[in-house]
Amino acid sequence: MDLKKYIASIPGFPKEGIIFRDVTPILETPEAMHYVVDAFTEFAKQTGADLILGPEARGFLFGVPVALEANLPFAPVRKPGKLPRETVEETYELEYGTDKLCIHADVIKPGQKVVIIDDLLATGGTAEAIVRMVKKLGGEVVGLGFIIELDDLKGVDKFGGIPVCVLTHFEGE
Ligand code: PRP
Ligand code: MG
Repeated sequence: MDLKKYIASIPGFPKEGIIFRDVTPILETPEAMHYVVDAFTEFAKQTGADLILGPEARGFLFGVPVALEANLPFAPVRKPGKLPRETVEETYELEYGTDKLCIHADVIKPGQKVVIIDDLLATGGTAEAIVRMVKKLGGEVVGLGFIIELDDLKGVDKFGGIPVCVLTHFEGE
């Protein structure tokens, strides 16, 4: 399937100089959604994952159906102040300043294998923070799945050889 047919490119959003890659047409097209979910499910099974993690908000949209199809648990990665139980948090770099992400501390048991699913790999900062959180809890990230990689940003270099499944590539922004 040519997934690019279901990714809208919007120049100048959210600001000048950025081309926004919008995956909502995938959600609007069951055939495209099945393609994405099947590909990530196969990948997650190959890695021997015990758990799927997805960062808010777009990681939820694809992580949950993959977890369900792979018959694995899913846990959300969220901004601070959203998760009610004890959390672990990690700071990550943004273009200007930093932000934090959290997961419930009890969702990862020592030795557990984790796959991270998200829509887009840009700088890799979001996923790298999740890799660190999983490590803190004694788990191991065994795979990362992204619908889109922005190749020029070389985010993949942050993952130190962990297997990465990318479904389609764009050059830069
Ligand atoms: C986008 C995208 C990825 C992240 C990729 O999320 O959905 O999660 O950025 O960027 P990075 O590789 O440079 O970390 P965003 O933070 O815009 O939030 P959203 O998913 O809630 O829309
Ligand atoms: Mg996101």
